[in-house]
Amino acid sequence: MADGKRIGILTSGGDCAGLNAVLRAVVRDASGRGWTVLGIEHGTQGLMESPPRAHVLENNDFDGTIMRQGGTILGSSNYGNPFAFPQLDGPDLDRSDDVIAGYKALRLDALIGIGGDGSIAILNKLAQKGGLNLVCIPKTIDNDVGVTEVSLGYDTAVQVATDALDMLQPTAASHDRVMILEVMGRDAGHIALVAGIAGGADVILIPEIPYRIANIVTKIRNLQASGRRFALVVVAEAVPNEAGNKIVQKYAGGRSAYGGIGHLLGDRLAETTRAEVRVTVLGHVLRGAAPDARDRLMANIFGVHAVDLIAEEKFGRMVAWRDRQAVDIPIEEAVAEPALVDVNGPVVRTARQLGICLGDE
Ligand code: F6P
Repeated sequence: MADGKRIGILTSGGDCAGLNAVLRAVVRDASGRGWTVLGIEHGTQGLMESPPRAHVLENNDFDGTIMRQGGTILGSSNYGNPFAFPQLDGPDLDRSDDVIAGYKALRLDALIGIGGDGSIAILNKLAQKGGLNLVCIPKTIDNDVGVTEVSLGYDTAVQVATDALDMLQPTAASHDRVMILEVMGRDAGHIALVAGIAGGADVILIPEIPYRIANIVTKIRNLQASGRRFALVVVAEAVPNEAGNKIVQKYAGGRSAYGGIGHLLGDRLAETTRAEVRVTVLGHVLRGAAPDARDRLMANIFGVHAVDLIAEEKFGRMVAWRDRQAVDIPIEEAVAEPALVDVNGPVVRTARQLGICLGDE
């Protein structure tokens, strides 16, 4: 490939903090090399349309407030798999050929896809089908993309959840209440576990560790017996009810997502402990914050490494952070297994040694 490349960039899946920062990093580095960067709107949906929905991104687009903001100026979608694209009426349609045609119509030399494991797997399938030169960057508040130690957006989400606990503690103490905080993290308990430790939680429930209500009740009673009249409980949205069923919130239009375990747990704890219980569901607040310093740094490191990969024509790879190094790995390897909480790892052990109840004992 000669210099003066045209590269596309898109954000796919649920948004998170740091997406605008990574767009800026790519645009800065690529434009410094004399390349053109096209921002594709609403993930692969922008490529599906004819003409594709994309516009040139310039350095000046980002240097003011945008790099500091949550969300993504390109837009994103959680429900647009081009291999089974939802139709208003009728069955899903395979629109993968339209996406590939969009990439070709834009005369792209390469595409940077920023996504979680689901989006990255779909982008990789498109790349393999259409011969697209793909490089991916991991982002998700859930931090469950395999192999990389950190995904964009996670650190900020943990900070938001920790701030929430800091604000719940005084009101819990003032009213002698059990405060339950439900946090996102589809199928992975990283946010709940880390924010719970940082925010001084007494009980942390994560989907990786089965729990019994009786153990939580004992913990709360022991706290009360010791003179502590409030308790902080963090529960991850993917924690099932006592029967082992995950709690799902159905939205108008037929879509659904996890949500509701906090209130179920609240009712059970109110019945069994006689304590006054209140529930806060953080939900999408975890996604919309401005990126913290760590997420901004990772955005810049990942963005620059992705541009390097394109310069070296190393495609089909995802950038990752391991052992304090920016590395890149084959996409198949990255999405083979989700990175769940290691129940025998140092973070879980730390929680146990601190006397935090994880529900299993
Ligand atoms: O995967 C990121 C995530 O924020 C999960 O933590 C959550 O379950 C899901 O997305 C919510 O998705 P939606 O944006 O469709 O409500």
